[in-house]
Amino acid sequence: MATTALMNTYGERKLTLVKGEGVYLWDDQGRRYLDALSGIAVCGLGHSHPGLTAAISEQAGTLLHVSNLYNTEPSQQLADLLRAETGMENMFFSNSGAEANEAAIKIARKFGNDQGIQNPTIITMNGSFHGRTMATLTATGNPKVKEGFTPLLEGFIHVDYNDIDALKAIDNSDVVAILVEPVQGEGGVKVPADDYLVQLRELCDQRGWLLMLDEIQTGNGRTGELYAFQHTGIMPDVLTTAKGLGNGLPIGACMAYGKAAQVLQPGNHGSTYGGNPLVCQGAYTVIRTLLDDGLIANAKTIGSYLLDGFNRELEGEAKVQNIRGKGLMIGIELTQPCAELVGAAAEAGLLINVTAGNTVRLLPPLITTEADADQIIAIVSQLIRNL
Ligand SMILES: Cc1ncc(COP(=O)(O)O)c(C=O)c1O
Repeated sequence: MATTALMNTYGERKLTLVKGEGVYLWDDQGRRYLDALSGIAVCGLGHSHPGLTAAISEQAGTLLHVSNLYNTEPSQQLADLLRAETGMENMFFSNSGAEANEAAIKIARKFGNDQGIQNPTIITMNGSFHGRTMATLTATGNPKVKEGFTPLLEGFIHVDYNDIDALKAIDNSDVVAILVEPVQGEGGVKVPADDYLVQLRELCDQRGWLLMLDEIQTGNGRTGELYAFQHTGIMPDVLTTAKGLGNGLPIGACMAYGKAAQVLQPGNHGSTYGGNPLVCQGAYTVIRTLLDDGLIANAKTIGSYLLDGFNRELEGEAKVQNIRGKGLMIGIELTQPCAELVGAAAEAGLLINVTAGNTVRLLPPLITTEADADQIIAIVSQLIRNL
């Protein structure tokens, strides 16, 4: 019986998970599950990765926390690695994705204030998800996330995702930035046109706006590049990430480039825990392992394998509206609500998620093999046929 001492913000949770190893999780009844969700795009290395466990165990016995009044080696090492791999100039470490976006929003606002813009305004997209803090839920393009939390913040306007013309039509001198996901995750694994980011970059350059990419879900190898913008030739001004960066350790990053990298100055932002030695040593190990073990390429290969498999298995299935994805971020949109598939999949020993009401979302670990993928394809296809 689950305790009532936890606030009921997540509704009823049927499973109590007690252990993980690789692509598998076990519940308190000893049942094993194939994990096709990775703690919602977090555990790219899978569970109980020995290299990560060793790195954080050693760091825990060396130095956990000293505050940001001092330099520590793990945060510098992680920042240097991320800079080398992304080309971004500098970064701020936070404890979560929403906080990474808060830093981005503050950069955009200060970027505007510094130019004398009184009400700096950020454009975000309908269907987007940027977090649950007051600023990030205001930025989010989903009314359900905002319901009951007025007054919201000023300074956000929303347009349709993947619609460059809607952006071009905006005539508002208060606009300072666009905040956008390269693939919308919570919004239903929406993959935009191939040239969307390139067009956004061009428009931002023309208008003097910052291009801020929310790669909290798409980052850290998930789409088949370390960060999704690396599928294109562009550089963002601001790049936020979290989730897969820590593989379960609470860390986010707000990275900045060019003019955006000079905006925040001493006293403008902070976090007591942000970037502490434990999480940074862990995140460094995560990124090194993703790069050294070829897991980013694996995300691309297994992602295509899954898409091909689902297209084959579900061909002609009337309940399937669309199968799409990038790397190991896959959505199967159905013509009907399908939340019940989550429980049915768990019964069959597979953990999946349903988002946007009618889209089966698969976010398996980046260590997923073809054999694991075959199981995912077989179970999910059968469940959809039986729905
Ligand atoms: C694109 C995106 N941005 C922001 C967030 C919020 O991250 P967190 O839950 O770590 O605050 C999420 C979480 O799902 C996300 O998918």
